[in-house]
Amino acid sequence: MDKSAEAFVIDDQEAGIFRVNRRAFTDAECLERERRCIFDKCWIYAGHESEVAHAGDFQSRNVAGRPMILARGDDGKVRVLLNTCTHRGALVCRQKSGSAKTFQCPYHAWTYNSRGQLIGVPGEDAYSPAFKRDEFALAQPAQVDNYRGFIFICFDRAADSLYDYLAGAKEYLDLVADQSELGMKVVAGVQAYSARANWKLLVENSYDGYHGLPTHQRYFGFLSDIGVEMRGNNLGAPRQQRVVDLGNGHAVLEYQSAWGRPIAHWVPSFGEHRKAHFEQMRRRFDERFGADRAYRICETSRNLGIFPNLVINDIMAITIRTFYPVASDYMEVNAWALAPKDESAEDSALRLDNFLTFLGPGGFATPDDVEMLESCQRGFANREVAWSDISRGMKREPPALTDELQMRAFWRRWNQLMIEPQAARARRAA
Ligand code: FES
Ligand code: FE
Repeated sequence: MDKSAEAFVIDDQEAGIFRVNRRAFTDAECLERERRCIFDKCWIYAGHESEVAHAGDFQSRNVAGRPMILARGDDGKVRVLLNTCTHRGALVCRQKSGSAKTFQCPYHAWTYNSRGQLIGVPGEDAYSPAFKRDEFALAQPAQVDNYRGFIFICFDRAADSLYDYLAGAKEYLDLVADQSELGMKVVAGVQAYSARANWKLLVENSYDGYHGLPTHQRYFGFLSDIGVEMRGNNLGAPRQQRVVDLGNGHAVLEYQSAWGRPIAHWVPSFGEHRKAHFEQMRRRFDERFGADRAYRICETSRNLGIFPNLVINDIMAITIRTFYPVASDYMEVNAWALAPKDESAEDSALRLDNFLTFLGPGGFATPDDVEMLESCQRGFANREVAWSDISRGMKREPPALTDELQMRAFWRRWNQLMIEPQAARARRAA
């Protein structure tokens, strides 16, 4: 156990002590180190293949702190292009999304095709024979890969494959991807918001089972007012209830849902007239996957954290959420709704209503959460209180959903990546 004043994490498994130094949330130098040791080294979620369904489709967005373009070329291949002109730097794509045969830089009009190749240079005869168009294609991350439609990038050529990186999280992505025989799609539109808080506070919050009742009291009151049966607590009865460290910093909470799910978990608030349709959907899942897996897909919810900054909340709707630090105390968040490609208009309306009313930035839950994260960040100004406690349930086996095992999984991996290069430097110097 590293008890030095410089340590970010104290992890004493024998005593059951786990603490995180609050400098990890406030220190500008720590953020710089995160950019190098985490965002430049890990696989980072860039988008879903359904967002660029047809040749020429593109989405421009920030990924790992850089402007990028997710683009499907005229050859049908999905690429991630770094959105910076190879001439002198300007963004070659300034639109959020669309379909285009070319990207033309607005500065001096260099033009790239949908594969990122440079195809037009005004006044090209002014350049010497040493000028080769091939050397000026839009740059791409060192690695790009796709797991069941989820596209990730990695700037570290030596990093493990995405398949290995995802470790135990693959099983949970499968439970999401298997919700449609035709595949899943991101519903057009994004919830984009920001919070005056460190990005890791949102990591913790996204699968924090301990905060539900106190923070979201009003929502649970509303649910019981409209007749949703609350089974003792908001997290339901434990036929399937667990918190799992999935390896590589990923973790999940899985629990029986107290709420209805547009995937075949009917509750009275959905209306009697829809019950038969839900039962029919459920039978189809039973046929495809057998009763146990069908139960998991339909009746349990999941809050999945994929290290470092991808959260998939498969609850009363499916949210894909990513967030990036702009400063130690400020983050930008994007959230998309994921749905079966073949979902009916009525089911889709139900899903999107949930996506807005509970999960959205103007919904029941997210403003409560953002308020708490910003409140923590303000509290950190009291530097005299140096440590936060994340030891809940450390000596409990099996851990409960209201424990903090999932956060410890994140912090252990975070700490390892942050101190490894330093330790290697120290070894080289010795
Ligand atoms: Fe793009 Fe000059 S910076 S053409
Ligand atoms: Fe919350």
